[in-house]
Amino acid sequence: MRKHLLDRRRFNALCATIGLSSPSAGAIVAATSGQSAAAQDAGAPTSAAGRTVKLPNGTIVPALGQGTWHLGQGRHPAAVEEEALRLGVSLGLQLIDTSGNYGDGLSEKLISRVIAGRRDRVFLVSKVEAYEVTGDGMARACEASLARLGTNYLDLYLLHSPVPSRLFAGVVTGFERLRATGKIRAWGVSNFNTSQMEELFRVPDGPSCATNQVPYSLNNRDIERDLLPWCKQHDMPVMAYSPLGGDNNLVIGDPTPARIGAAHGCAAAAVALAWVIRNGNVIAIPESGVPAHVKENAVALSLTLTPQDFQILDAAYPGPSGAN
Ligand SMILES: NC(=O)c1ccc[n+]([C@@H]2O[C@H](COP(=O)([O-])OP(=O)(O)OC[C@H]3O[C@@H](n4cnc5c(N)ncnc54)[C@H](OP(=O)(O)O)[C@@H]3O)[C@@H](O)[C@H]2O)c1
Repeated sequence: MRKHLLDRRRFNALCATIGLSSPSAGAIVAATSGQSAAAQDAGAPTSAAGRTVKLPNGTIVPALGQGTWHLGQGRHPAAVEEEALRLGVSLGLQLIDTSGNYGDGLSEKLISRVIAGRRDRVFLVSKVEAYEVTGDGMARACEASLARLGTNYLDLYLLHSPVPSRLFAGVVTGFERLRATGKIRAWGVSNFNTSQMEELFRVPDGPSCATNQVPYSLNNRDIERDLLPWCKQHDMPVMAYSPLGGDNNLVIGDPTPARIGAAHGCAAAAVALAWVIRNGNVIAIPESGVPAHVKENAVALSLTLTPQDFQILDAAYPGPSGAN
């Protein structure tokens, strides 16, 4: 495990020692620097209870992170998007997901400004494209991402989309080489279905895969059919992208999460995200370039939905039959 990440038991002991009762996920990443991330960022609450997820290598990450697909590309002013990401980090959303191909590198460049001076408080995820996996393509793509991000390592490097299964062994070798040289701390995949995961786990070191990043939200529960149970059975968390439904299908305007949110005194977005991260084996990476939205989303880390809330949400957004 990375030396600045503590496991939950050691962190709770540390909190007891220094008198904190309700540790934030932010504090987990920051604990060894002697002061919590939340405490270092003015105006941020210091006591949000943080849901966490354990990766197969033992690293503990917050169950809620931040996506950045459209950031750095003019959707909102760059300074506002940077402020949104910084606020998210201070509220416990330290996992930042990007890719070399988001805005042709613009997303990574924006992130470099956000993480400057606070790299060790951020869990950085980037991706290599399927067309980059042959020859020395993975090493070159990784170097390019590191240069744009202004860092010398990624916490997690994902294959953005599946390649033919005959290439799996070579991809895993490429990832393991990057890990051996310290360029990445862990690797995973994205958009793999269950049979592709089974194939991956059959190649040498395939079971070292840390996560599979796939779409998952109240209105897209397809992975509950077999991928989610498969990952659970293999002790591998899922990383949920488009957890609010994605740009064209957002659930936050729907009446049901809004009603439940009103009862809890929070936004519909927090309800939708709390639902996605409810079971301890899913990390959600909502994207927002708006500080007020990030603040709403961060509430999901400490929001506990009631059994009745779950029943109501299940009725409004039925999952695949037989799934749980
Ligand atoms: N691996 C893959 O193939 C893949 C594919 C898609 C996405 N991803 C990753 O997953 C991340 C998230 O997915 P996504 O962007 O598709 O969908 P999403 O997170 O479900 O939705 C993003 C949209 O929700 C809005 N939003 C966020 N919080 C809000 C709030 N509290 N109230 C109102 N609106 C809110 C955002 O607008 P504002 O900015 O205006 O708040 C944005 O338009 C991406 O950024 C990317 O990192 C990965």
